[in-house]
Amino acid sequence: METVVSGIRSTGKLHLGNYYGALGNFVKMQNEYNCFFFIADLHSLTTHPTPQDLQSTVRQVAVEYLAAGIDPEKSTIYVQSDVPEVAELYLYMNMNAYLGELERATSFKDKIRSNPNNVNAGLLTYPVLMACDILIHHGVKVPVGKDQEQHLEMTRTFGNRFNRIYDVDYFKEAFAFSYSDKLVKVPGLSGQGKMGKSNGEGDCIYLSDSPDVIRKKIMRAQSDSGPTEMNQVKPDSIQNLFDLMKVVSTADTLQHFDDLYNSCEIRYGDLKKQLAEDMVLATEPVRSRIEDISNDTDYIKKVVRLGAEKAQASAQKTIKEVREIIGLKKLY
Ligand code: TYM
Repeated sequence: METVVSGIRSTGKLHLGNYYGALGNFVKMQNEYNCFFFIADLHSLTTHPTPQDLQSTVRQVAVEYLAAGIDPEKSTIYVQSDVPEVAELYLYMNMNAYLGELERATSFKDKIRSNPNNVNAGLLTYPVLMACDILIHHGVKVPVGKDQEQHLEMTRTFGNRFNRIYDVDYFKEAFAFSYSDKLVKVPGLSGQGKMGKSNGEGDCIYLSDSPDVIRKKIMRAQSDSGPTEMNQVKPDSIQNLFDLMKVVSTADTLQHFDDLYNSCEIRYGDLKKQLAEDMVLATEPVRSRIEDISNDTDYIKKVVRLGAEKAQASAQKTIKEVREIIGLKKLY
């Protein structure tokens, strides 16, 4: 059975982008693959969360994994820092990752632009740590959103380079995975690109948002006074609403509003109402389970303890082999 590895950073509540890019696929994949799904707490350290925030966000992601339907009997659910072998592999792989290629990563360039006062080494080597998350379990399929595609390319580069340097055929190539023919990019409500917290709270629809909050957020999204000509090209803010609709609504609904737009009969209030209801419906199965799971601390602890044991066993095997390949053998 092929191995699947993926993770989500512990930066808070999960949003629709996380769901359609990653989590929704985790749930489907667990029936077909050997799955490792983790909470990337080490990756979230680049922004220096307080210890309290870190703890609560790790817990939040664990709760939402379970609420979404990841089954700990089928998948290994663990916290990244519970598997120190990942950090050890990261040290080894950093020796074969070059400054130029790390500086060229789009995610690094974005971070420099958005937060020039916090360009730390962890940000630079972020793709190396991500590669190690995957390589440590010999993952070959990685369910992620479009924004992670370049990191997967780098993972293949690092794994292949290791194989070449040590003249082994050890690490396999991993590829980004989505059930749809393209990797998903869910746009944010603010129209500033992909949905994400860095564009402000109002950009995201969280899986835990109540129906009322969802409706309010959608109603506030930018629109305009409507098309003035038949079949007019949609302005960005309107295209954005249609793109969101593509994610949560049926093809028929989308076609219906597209026809109304093209015949200049559209009322954006109606479109937004429909979009909000479709989002409420899409998030309901996860939202309805969050509270119950969150109240069951013993269950959450049990899940991540069991997950840590399973992930450690897999990681320890890899690290033992990697040390041998590198020549880190004991002299005594
Ligand atoms: P993170 O925490 O930023 O996002 C988690 C997952 O959600 C996807 N995603 C989106 N997909 C579509 N549209 C969006 N608007 C959107 N926003 C987020 C991301 O593509 C991702 O799949 N580096 C990773 C975490 C990570 C990881 C790994 C992933 C660490 N190690 C190993 C896979 C394998 C990250 O920052 O994701």
